[in-house]
This record gives sequence, C-alpha cells and structure tokens, in this order.
Amino acid sequence: MDILGLDVGGSGIKGALVDTEHGRFITDRHRVATPQPATPESVIAVATEIVQHFAWHGPIGCGFPAAVKHGVIHTAANIAPDWIGQPGQYLLQQAVGAPVWLLNDADAAGLAEMRFGAGREQTGLVLVVTLGTGIGTALFIDGQLVPNTELGHIEIRGKEAEKRASDAIRKRKNLDWAAWAERLDEYLETMNRLFWPDVIILGGGVSKHHEHYIPLLKVRTRVVPAELRNDAGIIGAAMAARHYLVTA
Ligand code: BGC
Repeated sequence: MDILGLDVGGSGIKGALVDTEHGRFITDRHRVATPQPATPESVIAVATEIVQHFAWHGPIGCGFPAAVKHGVIHTAANIAPDWIGQPGQYLLQQAVGAPVWLLNDADAAGLAEMRFGAGREQTGLVLVVTLGTGIGTALFIDGQLVPNTELGHIEIRGKEAEKRASDAIRKRKNLDWAAWAERLDEYLETMNRLFWPDVIILGGGVSKHHEHYIPLLKVRTRVVPAELRNDAGIIGAAMAARHYLVTA
C-alpha cells in the first residue's frame, strides 16, 4: 500500500511516496528548506506545499522533531517554541484535507530500520540514534517501540548531549572525524551504561560516511550504521500511518 511519508527536520522538510510493503520510495524525494523560524504556520505551509507537489489525497505519515503524544507537540528543541501544546496532527490534517498520523521523527526512522534496515529480525534491546540537527533516539524491546524517548537531551558533564555530539555541532565546529567520534563515543557509552542495549544503530544523513567514525568508537556495545540512512524517517512515517490510519 502506498502512503505519503513526510519528515520535518531542523534543516529540511522532505517527502516521498512510499511502498510500505517493501519499505522503498516509489517517487523521488522532494525537499524544501525548513523555514526559519520554524513556526506552526510556516512549517504547515511548507508541508502542505510538499503534499500538493505529489498531488496526494490519501493517508499521510509525518515524522516531527519533538515528543508527540496523541497528535500534540510537547517539546521544541530545534523548532519554534510556539509549537509546544499545539495539536500538530490536527493542524496538518486541516491544512491538507487528508488523514495524517504524526509521530516523533527518530521513532519513525527507528520503525523503518527495524523492519527493513539494520534492525531486521533483531531481538532484545535496540537503540536507534539519529544524528542530525539534534540527536534523536528510538528504543525497541523485541521489536516493540517505546515511543518518545528524548535521550539526545541527556546531560553529559552538565550540557545536553545533542549540543556536544550532533552532526550539526560537527559541522558548526568544523570537527574532523576523530574529534567528533570522541564526542559521539562519550554519548554512546553514556547510553550503554544506562540502557545496556544489544546493538546501537546510528542513523541520520551522516550515516553515509559511517566508515570514517564507527571504526573509531570504543563504546562497549555493537554499533552498526543505519541501512536506510536519511530515507528511514520518511519510510517509517508512512509505515506508522498505514498501521494507525489504514489497518487500525
Ligand atoms: C528532539 C527530538 C528529535 C531529535 C531529532 C531533538 O532535539 O527533541 O524529539 O527526535 O531532536 O530530530
């Protein structure tokens, strides 16, 4: 079944039509820069523009960079603070005139990796970490998602982890791979000693360069690169929409 997947990120808002049976795109990805400031009005306008680009009227899944409970936005680390308390799912649904399912962006990416990517058939505790503008996390136990873990905000030496080790920080501070890997390692080891995952899957756009930093990590658990890379968020959002809007 085909579903439109959207992924709202700190730097880009992306969409593609997804074949949810096989976890792959059936159109090219369409990307528009995230408006700044990323207010409810401006983000909804761009998301609507993307939906119109695909001339799509069916169900839509949308990954969003915040804790999302029952369609309501509860945090705003890399988007405008006026999102907090907004019924994001309802607002987008009203704007596009089609059913929408909204979920956390890292949870969406995690769902796709677990079904079609590096987490396929992986049992036990899996932590998916997305490295982008922020750090997103998705926690799975025997394939079941524990939603809305916000573990990129855990403090390391008095500072939020995503302000030390996100991919945006690597770029902003012009860190070489070794310097960034050291920061990432400290974060992943913190995750390891608090959660003891069986495997950590590293996603986000930077996962396409994994051979530059994963071999440098010393964390005491298995770390593998995401296989769906930056497409995972769009694919997982479409999978969630199919699950909740079509087969529920
Ligand atoms: C947000 C998370 C999000 C992550 C990745 C964090 O700043 O709090 O909800 O999953 O960034 O976008």
